[in-house]
Amino acid sequence: MRDVNKHYGPLHVLQNINLEVKRGEVVVVLGPSGSGKSTLCRTINRLETIDTGEILIDGVKLPEEGKLLAKLRADVGMVFQSFNLFAHKSILENVTMGPIKVKGMKKSEADKLALQLLERVGVANQKDKLPAQLSGGQQQRVAIARALAMRPKVMLFDEPTSALDPEMIQEVLDTMIALAKEGMTMIVVTHEMGFARRAADRVIFMADGQIVEQATPEEFFTNPQTNRAKDFLGKLIKH
Ligand SMILES: Nc1ncnc2c1ncn2[C@@H]1O[C@H](COP(=O)(O)OP(=O)(O)OP(=O)(O)O)[C@@H](O)[C@H]1O
Ligand SMILES: [Mg+2]
Repeated sequence: MRDVNKHYGPLHVLQNINLEVKRGEVVVVLGPSGSGKSTLCRTINRLETIDTGEILIDGVKLPEEGKLLAKLRADVGMVFQSFNLFAHKSILENVTMGPIKVKGMKKSEADKLALQLLERVGVANQKDKLPAQLSGGQQQRVAIARALAMRPKVMLFDEPTSALDPEMIQEVLDTMIALAKEGMTMIVVTHEMGFARRAADRVIFMADGQIVEQATPEEFFTNPQTNRAKDFLGKLIKH
């Protein structure tokens, strides 16, 4: 992201954002509510437009619209707080739909790929069920498999565990940690400090639409530089 700016009316929600994420890097984005973390993620696969600046993925500028945009969007997998699975499709179909519809993959091939991915996230035995028949943690792992089925170059996670019951958080984090270890490039908005410490190469702290601090997790958690970050971390620890 180079000199990216975005406004919502009078609100300058992203202020001169410069961010380079290397292949295989895992970046955790932290910051208070309303600081622009979700907006940042959403601009990267162009769910939101930007006013100025540019965003490149693997050296290619995000196109404005059309087929090229659909293709580039497939390079960016996104997992949200709510699982967004298709309620009336089976787990398997939820994962095969993208490859079949967007990539023109044959059904037999897509089934094979989907089963591999469901296996990898530990829910292959649920393949014939509907999303509502799965626990939240299982559904979120299906959402991860679905995103991976598009063979993305980068995965964005926006608070993927914050809608989950506590006992299901770890299974989703474990899936994400495994993905990080396999070398996936990841941008993760999360308040899970354990994940940040274990999996992040870098922590980015946002406040008021700006990247205020960047450091390794170790540096950031033990020695935050700004008052904003100190204040934020203080509040987290109290909870
Ligand atoms: N579609 C929109 N229209 C107008 N304002 C918006 C829109 N989406 C977000 N905002 C505002 O932009 C700011 C940043 O929102 P964003 O969702 O990116 O914050 P966040 O850091 O993800 O917060 P949270 O931790 O609560 O998820 C907020 O002030 C929010 O109210
Ligand atoms: Mg958000």
